[in-house]
Amino acid sequence: MDDRTRQAWAAASEKYEHEAAQHLEMARSYRLEPIEEEVLTAEVQRAAVVHPMSGHGLDDLALARLGAASVLGLDYSPAAVRSAQARADALDLPCRYQEVELPGTGLPDAGADVVYTGKGALIWVADLASFLAEMRRILRPGGAFFVYEAHPLVPLWTWEPGEARVRADRSYFAPGHVNDTFPARGAYEHQRTLAQMVTDTLEAGFAVEHLQEHPEPFWKPEGETAGAWDGRLPNAFSMLARRLP
Ligand SMILES: C[S@@+](CC[C@H](N)C(=O)[O-])C[C@H]1O[C@@H](n2cnc3c(N)ncnc32)[C@H](O)[C@@H]1O
Repeated sequence: MDDRTRQAWAAASEKYEHEAAQHLEMARSYRLEPIEEEVLTAEVQRAAVVHPMSGHGLDDLALARLGAASVLGLDYSPAAVRSAQARADALDLPCRYQEVELPGTGLPDAGADVVYTGKGALIWVADLASFLAEMRRILRPGGAFFVYEAHPLVPLWTWEPGEARVRADRSYFAPGHVNDTFPARGAYEHQRTLAQMVTDTLEAGFAVEHLQEHPEPFWKPEGETAGAWDGRLPNAFSMLARRLP
């Protein structure tokens, strides 16, 4: 089932190359979300940042502008890696990209100050414990693991306008579901509850310092105005966990 995910992303990522000119323009002024800047600004100053599942890479340029010394994006999509590297080079920002199949990173122990991930990343991770163990290994003691991700309730919301509705075919407690929307149609999304996410993070050897749920989704597909985005329901969460010694 994770092969389906890889195929869906190989296809979806081609659009990054088609949209290269548009992304280059966006990249010139692209910023992280306000909550990300609030939590991360002090963490990223002169930091070596690693970004697993870096996708289009726009976040990396924003992290570099926020003060990171370097950002290393890891992604298994060749088109994502190529297009993100070309953009970073065009803007002369200290971002590099490597084609890597996670959870293994091939990076040395304790070399990163910050791991930044999310915005549609952890849902592709089949074995969260292995992923977290790898993130802990590459972070220096005291380093920060930051996630800004769709709230685990999001798969339950329909995109219908008006009153928010829960999809009849989804469960908060299901292990996963097949994505039936843009951009990763056909990919298998792994689900875990917020409690599972936090518990797994603590068990992996981190202390959770920031955990917040947000009513705004980090991404709204063009033309959609779902009732679930009216400010009464959770659509995203942010977490900062610090690597224990
Ligand atoms: C939605 S993007 C990640 C978010 C990124 N911030 C963005 O907005 O583009 C998801 C990325 O995860 C990558 N991905 C999924 N599973 C992966 C894996 N096992 N190893 C490496 N990359 C993976 C996909 O290729 C895709 O580029």
